[in-house]
Amino acid sequence: MASVLMEDIAAMLVADKKGILAADESTGTIAKRLASISVESTEENRRKYRELLFTTEGLSDYISGVILYDETIRQSTSDGQPFAEYLMDEGIIPGIKVDKGTSLLPFSEGEMITEGLDGLRERLNEYVELGAKFAKWRAVIRIGHGAPSQYGLDTNAHTLARYAALCQEAGLVPIVEPEVLMDGEHDIDECYAVTETVLKTVFDELYKQRVVLEQMLLKPNMVISGLECPEQADAYEVSTKTLYCFEQTVPAAVQGIVFLSGGQDEPTACANLNAINGGEKKAPWELSYSYGRALQGSALATWQGKDENVTTAQEALIRRARLVSAARQGIYSANMEN
Ligand code: 13P
Repeated sequence: MASVLMEDIAAMLVADKKGILAADESTGTIAKRLASISVESTEENRRKYRELLFTTEGLSDYISGVILYDETIRQSTSDGQPFAEYLMDEGIIPGIKVDKGTSLLPFSEGEMITEGLDGLRERLNEYVELGAKFAKWRAVIRIGHGAPSQYGLDTNAHTLARYAALCQEAGLVPIVEPEVLMDGEHDIDECYAVTETVLKTVFDELYKQRVVLEQMLLKPNMVISGLECPEQADAYEVSTKTLYCFEQTVPAAVQGIVFLSGGQDEPTACANLNAINGGEKKAPWELSYSYGRALQGSALATWQGKDENVTTAQEALIRRARLVSAARQGIYSANMEN
């Protein structure tokens, strides 16, 4: 696959019926996930959990690519095959999270900036050697207490575009992820307004920094009510406002939009993606998924860190992947949950 063009990798990641499994939790985040099932976050337990996910039979029917973390791309199956190589053999494209998490943006009211540009060119070249075909960088935008400011949006967009250009230089498809967080009391219209400004700012920077749109994917939030908002918008409202927002901001040259789940529970992330794909109007981009929690939740809870639960945890993962894939095709319904 070494000679496959970046636009072909981007297309393969949003192939019919398929989407991405985000399994790139940083050491801190995976520790929280494992703590939720009372499992200690050792390197071996993290490896075992990722092996459970990746060796699920039939995963490639629904999963086009997996995003790995720095530690994970250097790990292997219990048979000693590097994960990236194993996934390729299964027809699943390995990718890599390359940002180094967030820190406080100076002179702002608690806004975040994503770190990781220093030395990125060299790190990308190493990840190519390790088998990665695509990359991910997440910018975090919080709503509330005066945030976000245009300063916060500009610096994050500039950083995302710097990352994306470096990826394409290295031959890696960048997944550009500006995540407007669900946390807060804001309503769906405030999420719409912020998401629209974020995407306009991001695509302006991508253009200035000469990023090739056909060779990247966008990983955004859905336009959705804040978690603590008393009035929660239903799937129909989420889908119409999300699609309208993208029509205003995302060029048609982008091949695919792969949503993050962002803290939606598994059925809600399916219902919303289904409504987004269920409309009459044909969108110019594939509308797919790059879910972390909304793909892994049941599998993690079923596993409980016990070897005897691996098979049932894998069954939970494949069942959820089948439902998310149905939602990506607009053929999911809530009674499929039973
Ligand atoms: P969630 O789907 O759990 O939000 O994770 C997706 C992701 O990769 C966030 O960066």
